[in-house]
Amino acid sequence: MKAWAALLVALVAAGYAWQSHRAAVRRLQAQLLQAAPDAVIRRSDLVKAAVTEATPLYARYCAACHGDHMQGNTALGAPDLTDSHWLYGSGSVYDIERTVLYGIRSGNPRARNVTDMPAFGLTGMLKPGEIRELVEYLLMLDHRPYDGQAALAGRALYLSKGNCFDCHGTDALGNTDYGAPDLTADVWNSGGDPGTLYQSIYSGRHRVMPAWRGTLTLEQIRALSVYIYAVSHRLTLH
Ligand code: HEC
Ligand code: HEC
Repeated sequence: MKAWAALLVALVAAGYAWQSHRAAVRRLQAQLLQAAPDAVIRRSDLVKAAVTEATPLYARYCAACHGDHMQGNTALGAPDLTDSHWLYGSGSVYDIERTVLYGIRSGNPRARNVTDMPAFGLTGMLKPGEIRELVEYLLMLDHRPYDGQAALAGRALYLSKGNCFDCHGTDALGNTDYGAPDLTADVWNSGGDPGTLYQSIYSGRHRVMPAWRGTLTLEQIRALSVYIYAVSHRLTLH
C-alpha cells in the first residue's frame, strides 16, 4: 500500500514537472515570435529554444535541398547556409526570415523575384566563343588559372554586350537586392568548374526556393531563421 502511494506521488510530481517544462517551452516560443527578429540573437535562452525547435524542422523540410549540414547542393543550386555569402540581404535574421516566408521565384506574390540569370546562349545573345571568354574572365576573378587573352576579351564583354555588370555590378561583387551572386568569391551555388560556369551563362538559371508561409507556422519560421543565423554566424550557445 505504501509503495503504491509513493508511486502515485512520484507520478503526479513527474506530471507536474513535464507540464511546467512544456509551459516554459511554450513561453519561450511565444517570446521568440514577439521579439523583433534581430533582437532574438541577444537572448541566449531564446536562441537555444529556437535551435532546439528548428533542428528537426530543418531535417524534415530543408535538408533535402540544402544538405544535412546546411552545406548546400550544387546539383540543385541550393546555397550553403553556413557561410557569410548571402544572395539576399546581409544575413540578418530579418533577411533570412523574409526569404523563408515567401521564397525566391516561388510564385508567392511576396517572393523575392527581381530578376534571374538570363540564358545568353539559348537566346543567341552571346556566341559560344564569347561565353568561353566570359568563363576565362570569371576564372581570373576567382584567382584560378586562366587564359590571359580570353579573359581580357571576357572582361570587355562583361562590361558591354553581356550586360553582366547591370546585375552583378561593375566590380562583379554581386547585388543582394537582386539576388545576383558575387562572382569574385569562388563560391558557386550551381558549381564553379568551367563546364558548369559555361552552362550557367549559356542556359541561364531560374533557381527556385519554396515559400514556407502556410506550410510552417510563423513561429516555426522564426525558429528556423534564428537557427540559420546562429550557424552561419558561429554563435556559441552557453
Ligand atoms: C526544393 C529545394 C529547396 C528547399 C526544400 C528549401 N530550399 Fe532554401 N533555397 C533553395 C534554392 C535553390 C535557393 C537559392 C535560390 C537562388 O539562387 O536564387 C535557396 C535559398 C535559400 C535561402 C537564401 C540564402 C541566401 O543566400 O540569401 C535561405 C535562407 C533558405 N533557402 C532557407 C531554407 C529553409 C529554412 C528551408 C526549409 C524550411 C529551405 N530553404 C528549403 C532551395 C530549397
Ligand atoms: C538580369 C540580371 C542578370 C544579368 C544581366 C546577368 N546575371 Fe548572372 N545571375 C543573375 C542572378 C539573379 C543569378 C542567380 C541565379 C538565378 O537566377 O537563379 C545569376 C547567376 C549567375 C551565375 C551562377 C552563379 C552560381 O552561384 O552558380 C553565373 C556564373 C553568372 N550569373 C554569370 C553571369 C555573367 C557572366 C553575365 C553576363 C554575360 C551575367 N551573369 C548576367 C542575374 C543576372
